[in-house]
Amino acid sequence: MSQILNIRRVAGALGAELSGVDLSAALPDETVAAIRQALVEHQVIFFRDQALTPAQQTAFGARFGPLNIHPYVAGMAGQPEVMEIIKEPSDKINFGGGWHSDMSFLETPAIGSILYAVELPEWGGDTLFASQAAAFEALSPGLQKTLEGLNAVHSASREYSAQGHSAQKRGAMKVAEADGYVGEYVHPMVLVHPETGRKALYVNPAFTLRIEGWKTRESKALLDYLFEHCRYEAFTCRFAWRKGSVAFWDNRSVWHFALNDYPGQRRHMRRVTVDPWPTTGKASIAAE
Ligand code: SIN
Repeated sequence: MSQILNIRRVAGALGAELSGVDLSAALPDETVAAIRQALVEHQVIFFRDQALTPAQQTAFGARFGPLNIHPYVAGMAGQPEVMEIIKEPSDKINFGGGWHSDMSFLETPAIGSILYAVELPEWGGDTLFASQAAAFEALSPGLQKTLEGLNAVHSASREYSAQGHSAQKRGAMKVAEADGYVGEYVHPMVLVHPETGRKALYVNPAFTLRIEGWKTRESKALLDYLFEHCRYEAFTCRFAWRKGSVAFWDNRSVWHFALNDYPGQRRHMRRVTVDPWPTTGKASIAAE
């Protein structure tokens, strides 16, 4: 395959399919820069007909930042940054089966996720994506301004604590139950994208617990409104996987939802998750 990128948008709010690139190859810097540009512009990008070993997927992901090791889901043996997302025919619950933004429960959330389809059900198992930039832009200037001054508290407790949805409930995945207090982290409710300057809502139903400094009732009312608003169909696109497909989404401006509509069938994906580059701080100029 040549390294010439062709880009075809797939929906009005977000999403584009890129062709003409082999992600298993050692890509030149210009190709990586073009992929990065497409990612931040289209928010989620798709590739077809790829053949990636876990090591090749890791190498591709590492071109965009350090790779995350999930604190609660075990990675592959010897390659802890590769997470196997598997639903066996006997499993009832799937991983990612609700709107969310990956890792917003961390102090430094992941910037991107790269998911590769290894084995798919005969039908079903699509993934939905929703642009949180489009969701923000559709709000009134008054509400936008209010939200820009607010922070929200995120935590993994709903998913990964003993009472959470995830822990121990998916037979096929090695999901650890978070011991005791899983930690709470505060993030702005509106993120300004560091590469495009575009603003996006940054709250999600899986991991956002409350608005900082607000009473529970007040917080719930506004968050419930936003969670409803943010998944409006005009902000979404839907990806129908084929074996070898790859989706790469920008967690700073995109929610996603893995549909659980293929009972009795197997689905096997592999994900690497890209962390931000560590900030190095300002170089100090030594006094003479
Ligand atoms: C995820 O939430 O990362 C999983 C998405 C999917 O399996 O489609």
